[in-house]
Amino acid sequence: MPQRVRIVEVGPRDGLQNESAQVPTAAKIELIDRLSATGLQTIEATSFVSPKWVPQLADAAEVYAGIERRPGVAYPVLVPNLQGYERTRAVGATEVAVFTAASEAFNRRNTNAGIDESLARFAPVLERARADGVRVRGYVSTVLGCPYQGEVPLADVVRVARALHAMGCYEVSLGDTIGVGTPGKARTMLRAVAMEVPMPALAVHFHDTWGQALANVLACLEEGVAVVDSAVAGAGGCPYAKGASGNVASEDVVYMLHGLGIDTGIDLDRLADTGRWLAALLGRDTGSKAGKALAAA
Ligand code: HMG
Ligand code: MG
Repeated sequence: MPQRVRIVEVGPRDGLQNESAQVPTAAKIELIDRLSATGLQTIEATSFVSPKWVPQLADAAEVYAGIERRPGVAYPVLVPNLQGYERTRAVGATEVAVFTAASEAFNRRNTNAGIDESLARFAPVLERARADGVRVRGYVSTVLGCPYQGEVPLADVVRVARALHAMGCYEVSLGDTIGVGTPGKARTMLRAVAMEVPMPALAVHFHDTWGQALANVLACLEEGVAVVDSAVAGAGGCPYAKGASGNVASEDVVYMLHGLGIDTGIDLDRLADTGRWLAALLGRDTGSKAGKALAAA
C-alpha cells in the first residue's frame, strides 16, 4: 500500500454537474475556496463542456475566475474538445482533463462521438497544452461496466488508458461511472491497466451506486494506486449515465486512509464541515457516513 495518497476532489465538477436545480455561482466558488482550506492538493473546479449538454456548469468561466487559487493546490477543469480548451485559456487554467470511455455506446451518449473520434479530438488539445505549459489529465469512463453496453472488455479499458497516456496525459483516471464494480473486478482491471501504464500515472474514480466504492478503493490501494478521486459529501453522477449515483465520499476515503496510517495532508474535520455545508446547500443529508458520524460525535 502507498504511504501517502493524493485525493483528487471532484465535488465541484462531478458532484454538481448532475444537479437539476441551478447552484448559484457564488456558492460554487465558496465550495472550492472551502475545499482549498482543507489541505487538498487537487480540486477539479468545473467543466468547460457545452452548456447545452450540462447547463449546471455553464458558469465555468465565472467560477474559475472567482476562486482563490491557493499556492500548492491544482485546479484542473474538464474539457471535451479544443473549443473547451480555448475557453480555459481565457481564464488562465493551468491544468485540464480530457475524458472518453472504454464503452463506445456510453461515449456516444456522453460526447456524441466514438472513442477513436474523441481521442482524435484530444490530439490538438494536448498539442496546444504542451505549448502552453498546461498539464493534462485523462479519464476513462465505464471501466467496470456500461449502462448501455453492459460488460466492458478489459482489453478496451487497457487500450484507451494506454492511448491517453501515450498522447501525453500525465495521469489517467479509471472511472467506474455507474458504480457496478466489485473489489475483485476492480483489482483485476487495475492490474491489467498497470501492465501498460505505470502505476504512478494511474488514479481510480469510483461511484457508489451499489455501495462498493470504498471497498473498491481499498482493493486498488492494495495494488499500489496512490491517487484516488472522490467527492465531498458523496455528491455526483453523470447526466448521460443512466442509473449513476454519487462518487465515493471524500470524507469516508480520508477516514479510511488515516485509519490505515496513510497520509493525505487533509484536515478531516474541515473536510467534513464542508461536506455538511454542501449537503445543506443542496437541501439533503450528506452522503458521507464519516461526515455524519463526526457531526454526531
Ligand atoms: P456536439 O453537440 O456534438 O458538439 O457535442 P458540436 O461540436 O457539434 O457543437 C454543438 C454546439 O455546442 C455548438 O454551439 C458549439 O459551439 C457548442 P451552437 O453552434 O449550436 O450554438 N460547443 C461548446 N460550447 C462551449 N464549450 C464547449 C463546446 N463544444 C461545443 N467545449 C460535446 C459534443 C463534446 C461538446 C458535448 O457532447 C458535451 O459537451 N458533452 C459533455 C458531457 C459531460 O460533460 N458529461 C459529464 C462529464 S464526464 C463524467 O462525468 C465521467 C467522469 O466523472 C468519470 C467517470 O465517472 O467515469 C469524468
Ligand atoms: Mg464521475
